[in-house]
Amino acid sequence: MKIFLIGSGGREHAMAWKIKSSPLCTRLFISPGNPGMADLGELVPIKSDDISAITAFAVNNEIDLVAVGPEDPLALGLVDALAEKKIRAFGPSKAGATLEADKAFSKKMMREAGIPAAEGKSFSRLQDAMAFVESRNEPLVVKAAGLARGKGVVVCRDPVEALDAVRNIMEKKIFGSAGNTVVIEERLEGPEVSLLAFIDGHHAYIMEAAQDHKRIGDGDTGPNTGGMGAFSPSPLLTDDVLAKVEREILVPLLDILHRHEIDYRGVLYTGLMLTAGGPKTLEFNCRFGDPETQPLLMRLRSDLVEVMLACLDRKLDTITIDWDPRPAVCVVLASEGYGWKPDEQVVKGVAISGLSAAARLPDVRIFHSGTAMKEGQLVTSGGRVLGVCALGENLAAARKTVYSAIQQIHFPGMQYRRDIGFCGS
Ligand code: AMP
Ligand code: GLY
Repeated sequence: MKIFLIGSGGREHAMAWKIKSSPLCTRLFISPGNPGMADLGELVPIKSDDISAITAFAVNNEIDLVAVGPEDPLALGLVDALAEKKIRAFGPSKAGATLEADKAFSKKMMREAGIPAAEGKSFSRLQDAMAFVESRNEPLVVKAAGLARGKGVVVCRDPVEALDAVRNIMEKKIFGSAGNTVVIEERLEGPEVSLLAFIDGHHAYIMEAAQDHKRIGDGDTGPNTGGMGAFSPSPLLTDDVLAKVEREILVPLLDILHRHEIDYRGVLYTGLMLTAGGPKTLEFNCRFGDPETQPLLMRLRSDLVEVMLACLDRKLDTITIDWDPRPAVCVVLASEGYGWKPDEQVVKGVAISGLSAAARLPDVRIFHSGTAMKEGQLVTSGGRVLGVCALGENLAAARKTVYSAIQQIHFPGMQYRRDIGFCGS
């Protein structure tokens, strides 16, 4: 099969690695990809949100399967555009992707389906949002309703912070048009777990659980980021919790999607908070998580291509999916300023060294996120630069290997968390 992978981050590097290892894959194209993926497939310089160019490339090259990594092309209707040309694609349609692309819609679906979630309301007028905050005295969370690269959420300690957040998002537009509407929620307390599931329209196959560390600083301090590291499995996701999530969240969600005639095939990511009152939904994403995918795919023994095809053929219930029982840990190495400064002020373009020495360690794999080649030298090109992953006999062993691999890697201003995988274990 000729497969075309869309995206350029660590998640897509991990997907490319798994796709390339499939006996079903005869040729792999990646758009736009990154230098880490260059020896896995043919890099095609098309941006992942250029729907018409991607579609034209897929038609001209007789692509058999398109695998979509990030949310933007899904939200822009890539899968629908490809379907019109009779090209199969792994990922939900535009309607399905709205679960992530519009938090107000997502909240409405949760409410309609009776899915446990934070109480919240959506506002499109600044005055209404401010009045709502002023009428409350509990801690609130203010969210830009649109896509904001995982950063559009402000967790507030008090109403003063919440009013500030509303002004910043709706008036100053710190997240651009994503903040035209805000969702204001009660602030929940508890540990977080990411639960990813393959969905074939009818069935959900829940993957091994993962935990992401979203804050920039050790001990979960500082601003939220796209994710500073992840590990799998999560000791917090006991069989009891899992059964509850399936019964109270996933089954009602599949049901409401049917009622709205949304044919969802791809990955569904449920962000959960394990509160004293049971698991509650923080968000739905319409794709694999980044960096959760890196440790998850390190552990996936089955053929990812076969699983993607089973989703498209609505045959998830007919295959078995096999996982390495060993835990995996992924630590993100980020650029100076990432998490603290706006994207344009994050330091980029500095030389990276030591990758081959680190990659030689057993059970270590390094996935590139924000890297580029400049005059034959690998340099940083984004906030999150690399995801260093390792498998281990237990979580402690995997952590030890990851951190010793990181000792080999260097770039000026490199920052990373020292406590990935420590929480909850
Ligand atoms: P989201 O993109 O909606 O998952 O939010 C990003 C992060 O903000 C989550 O991973 C949580 O850490 C935090 N968060 C979101 N909603 C809430 C909430 N209602 N209560 C507490 N923390 C939240
Ligand atoms: N790691 C968070 C996300 O992928 O949304």
